[in-house]
Amino acid sequence: MGPAARIWACSSLLGLVLFWNVLFLFKLSDHPRVSPQLNATLTLLIWSWPFGGAANLTGDVCSRLYCITGCRLTTNRSLFSQADVVVFHHRELRYGRWDIPPSKAHPGQNWVWVSLESPSHTQALEGWTGDEWNWVLSYRRDADLFIPYGELVPRSSDVVDIPEKTGLVSWVVSNYHHSQARAAMYRNLSRHIRIDVFGRASRKPLCPDCLLPTISKYKFYLAFENSVHWDYITEKLWRNAFLTGSVPIVLGPSRANYQQFIPASAFIHVDDFGSAEELATFLTTMNESHYRSFFAWKQSYVVRLHDDWRERFCTICRRYPSLPQKKVYPDLKRWFWGY
Ligand SMILES: *[C@@H]1O[C@H](CO)[C@@H](O)[C@H](O)[C@H]1NC(C)=O
Ligand SMILES: *[C@@H]1O[C@H](CO)[C@@H](O)[C@H](O)[C@H]1NC(C)=O
Ligand SMILES: *[C@@H]1O[C@H](CO)[C@@H](O)[C@H](O)[C@H]1NC(C)=O
Ligand SMILES: *[C@@H]1O[C@H](CO)[C@@H](O)[C@H](O)[C@H]1NC(C)=O
Ligand SMILES: *[C@@H]1O[C@H](CO)[C@@H](O)[C@H](O)[C@H]1NC(C)=O
Repeated sequence: MGPAARIWACSSLLGLVLFWNVLFLFKLSDHPRVSPQLNATLTLLIWSWPFGGAANLTGDVCSRLYCITGCRLTTNRSLFSQADVVVFHHRELRYGRWDIPPSKAHPGQNWVWVSLESPSHTQALEGWTGDEWNWVLSYRRDADLFIPYGELVPRSSDVVDIPEKTGLVSWVVSNYHHSQARAAMYRNLSRHIRIDVFGRASRKPLCPDCLLPTISKYKFYLAFENSVHWDYITEKLWRNAFLTGSVPIVLGPSRANYQQFIPASAFIHVDDFGSAEELATFLTTMNESHYRSFFAWKQSYVVRLHDDWRERFCTICRRYPSLPQKKVYPDLKRWFWGY
């Protein structure tokens, strides 16, 4: 991002920041005793970087990349005692509690439980029945820190560009399990139409940079989730389909749930058809104007991905003033699984 773009990007956030400041001033006049955290720089300790990687946190990374000021992001565990927020990513927790501190460092410290995986891929939640978790960061809309894999951001545009198409349906899959709902649907569908499969689980692995250009040559993309859970709508939709200009055929939560995120006319849902054969016929007989109608959303929206852990963590600082204080999750598994 060049300096001009950055100033523009930051100033577009300014309105929001001013709004919060005005709210804050109101609070000040009502309650002169303000919690010290509200005006100081927040220290956010990431206990383990998700999936074992590491990110460049040099300097004021939240301000530099996302215009979020007053946020110190660190992985330095020596700062535990002074951290305002400590973030634990589930994958690195699931083997046990031996690696995490026995309790919070001070009463004002809040612990965040982070997982962007669905319940089917979030094991070992039993036993988290204390008062350690104050907030949850998840793809779920009811999370304290709701961070979807992507979103449609309003904008207006006269140009709806649809990439040139040379194929009908593609699918990229890295973990294929015969028993998954998506595998059954794929097998049935492939009896009626040709589906080009790419990715680790196929005979045609793609280099990371070839993935999106390859998908964009296909009219349709199988945005099939690895497991079916409400709100669990991943980059398979946002990046692989929407960003490439391939119409998503979704398998995941209900159509109604998808419509809470995206326009009804922007996708094809497997549940809309009585059988795989019906769906196949729908795809092969669709005329040009009908096909183009799936891109109407592009006149009003643009896709924004949320795929960087640094952005997700910096967002915690931005939302900090409005997060519920003294909240705890006495039974995390129950909350996440619903029973
Ligand atoms: C925060 O504000 C309080 C009250 O105005 C002040 O005493 C304190 O020094 C401030 N803290 C920081 C780090 O600026
Ligand atoms: C980390 O980011 C800073 C600031 O952009 C940069 O100067 C530095 O070279 C980066 N370090 C690494 C190891 O990439
Ligand atoms: C971690 O923080 C401590 C205390 O501020 C500091 O002495 C140490 O150098 C830091 N370690 C790293 C790797 O930055
Ligand atoms: C696949 O086809 C079989 C046999 O026709 C049918 O029983 C099954 O319900 C179908 N599954 C899906 C997901 O379409
Ligand atoms: C294209 O298909 C749609 C939906 O089936 C239909 O309503 C429309 O009349 C068709 N347009 C043309 C030009 O055939």
